Amino acid sequence: MMQVKTINFNIKGDDRGSLIALEQHKEIPFDIKRVYYIFGTKEGVRRGYHAHKSLKQVAVCVKGSCKFLLDDGKSKEYVELNSPDLGLLIDKFVWREMYDFSPDCVLVVFADDYYDEGDYIRDYKEFIRRVENDS
Ligand code: TYD
Repeated sequence: MMQVKTINFNIKGDDRGSLIALEQHKEIPFDIKRVYYIFGTKEGVRRGYHAHKSLKQVAVCVKGSCKFLLDDGKSKEYVELNSPDLGLLIDKFVWREMYDFSPDCVLVVFADDYYDEGDYIRDYKEFIRRVENDS
């Protein structure tokens, strides 16, 4: 079974409200070279449909909710992100699809490298071939 790695962030709350701080090599277990966010996702949209050759990421749904399908080529796991204190670690060579975005969903992603289209595997059959050849 594929291991889903989630991280619970500490909420620094007081009578004014809540705050979460994320630092590299502390809450986020790598160098943070890039942050991007996905928002305004239209109803019924499913996105992702790729794996990475080397990129590691942590996804946090800071508002609303969305679901992830994670697939390491051997088994699939399903995770819902629905809280700003929940991080999902997505390792290299994990096929991901995101779906069921709530209209207010803001999905923030921390990545350990700059954007590089050459690091993507966007073809599922190629993904399976590479997983089988590397193991
Ligand atoms: P894409 O990877 O297709 O989104 P997802 O896989 O999450 O559905 O990215 C959408 C577009 O944005 C695509 O043209 C590439 C571009 N993009 C960047 O320029 N920089 C980035 O950091 C990311 C993640 C995407």
